[in-house]
Amino acid sequence: MSDINSTNARTLGRCFCIITGASKGFGWVLAHQVSHYLKPGSVLLLVARTGTLLQELKEELQSFTEDQNLMVHCITADLSTQDGVNETVRVTRQESLKEIDHVLLINNAASLGDISRFASFTNLDQVNSYLSFNVSSALGLTAGILQVFPPRAGLRWSVVNCSSVFAVQAMPSWVLYCTAKSARVMMFRVLAEEEPNVKVLSYSPGPMDTEMQEDILRLTGISYHLLPCKESAAKLMKVLLENKFASGSHIDFFEV
Ligand SMILES: NC(=O)c1ccc[n+]([C@@H]2O[C@H](COP(=O)([O-])OP(=O)(O)OC[C@H]3O[C@@H](n4cnc5c(N)ncnc54)[C@H](OP(=O)(O)O)[C@@H]3O)[C@@H](O)[C@H]2O)c1
Repeated sequence: MSDINSTNARTLGRCFCIITGASKGFGWVLAHQVSHYLKPGSVLLLVARTGTLLQELKEELQSFTEDQNLMVHCITADLSTQDGVNETVRVTRQESLKEIDHVLLINNAASLGDISRFASFTNLDQVNSYLSFNVSSALGLTAGILQVFPPRAGLRWSVVNCSSVFAVQAMPSWVLYCTAKSARVMMFRVLAEEEPNVKVLSYSPGPMDTEMQEDILRLTGISYHLLPCKESAAKLMKVLLENKFASGSHIDFFEV
């Protein structure tokens, strides 16, 4: 009980928050939960390819947060392309003049990719295309947002990397997904080493009830015991609100 009360008492401040992959699944739930902890004057940028779903989410969020003076923007962008990354950075720059005290970037968008035996991956274009979206794009986007908001003492800066148990556990036939998730963890650890004014968290959300899991079931026949996204999102919010994690650390849902 005291835990819940202390979480409620905290906020993310007057925040500029960017959530990729916000149109559905975990990103959609995160957008809802984050919005409860934003101080008036905050800005929320929702990014994904499906503009209609983002627009619906924006309307829902604005109806719940009428009194909060929250600016919500939808960015319909394909983050597997340079144009999609550029557009997200451009809109961030355009909105960046607002007075804020916290930048929060949640790199949530990702794809499952082909689940096949190692020896089948002879096509470099296929592999590069997967890694381009799941690794390079998160690097390029984070780099662009760092340029818009240069880290400095007095400005809270947080980056969340949506990770997976497969960043640290090898799984047969999951070479693309495991490789990308593992590379992202190291990539964000480097950022943590470089930027003492940025707090970096790799969060592994556990198996959740989303379209990605529907694909896993269809492609592999594996059925996991699934958590509701809101349970995992609540744990991530707790970690962010307490803000006690070591920058660069990898935290799993089952450890919180
Ligand atoms: N679900 C799980 O059990 C589970 C477990 C561990 C880790 N994770 C991780 O948690 C994160 C969220 O997973 P999820 O299950 O919510 O996935 P999901 O249901 O597949 O949703 C993925 C989100 O990313 C967006 N997206 C996909 N491709 C995109 C692109 N090219 N450009 C921009 N946006 C794109 C999708 O929106 P559009 O289609 O509209 O673009 C959607 O909003 C991922 O990083 C995933 O690896 C998930």
